[in-house]
Amino acid sequence: MGRSMFTVIMGTTEAPQQQRLPVGSKELPMRIMVIAGTSRDYVGLWRDVATFVVPDAGVQFPRLVEAVPLESMAAVMARISRRLDELKTSCAAIPPSSSDQSRRIAGQDALLLHEALREAVRHLPDSHDQRFRKWLAESDDAAKGIYDSLRSGSADGAVRHLNALQQLCTQCHTAYRN
Ligand code: HEC
Repeated sequence: MGRSMFTVIMGTTEAPQQQRLPVGSKELPMRIMVIAGTSRDYVGLWRDVATFVVPDAGVQFPRLVEAVPLESMAAVMARISRRLDELKTSCAAIPPSSSDQSRRIAGQDALLLHEALREAVRHLPDSHDQRFRKWLAESDDAAKGIYDSLRSGSADGAVRHLNALQQLCTQCHTAYRN
């Protein structure tokens, strides 16, 4: 017999509040995200969870495999490039009087770029030399710098790190592309 209700316990240890939500209810995953302390910075994750629709019972899922095949460097770069374009667009949309909301969106884009670069470093095949690895890691640091600057409200810092990052893109392409 399948479980049809899920008990969510919230509140404090002294005053726990139990709430029973039906499995498959739209509210349940959002509650779990809150309880898990998921950062509101992961705007995309919150959106995906909010809009997720439980597939019908008969749906065939793809088989889960332990290892995903490595992407080509071109595919990795195409994603990094897209993330950078999105970040530049959202940075340009920050008004001079800097509203928190627009800074937050730009911060979210910086975080996605940082994650794309960190993944690229993590999955870099051994065939790449030390210098390549170093420049990629420095690019990741710069993206993290953009994110941190946006979060702390330093527009100057964000611009400085963004320029450093774009210099690294060019520098590495000059040395390694073609
Ligand atoms: C450490 C080296 C390195 C850094 C840093 C780097 N790239 Fe690349 N990039 C490459 C290499 C190598 C290729 C060629 C990949 C191939 O075609 O196999 C490439 C290719 C590309 C491509 C072409 C992808 C395609 O579809 O063929 C784009 C776009 C790109 N990079 C954008 C960027 C951007 C934007 C940045 C900075 C945020 C960046 N790259 C930083 C090494 C780097």
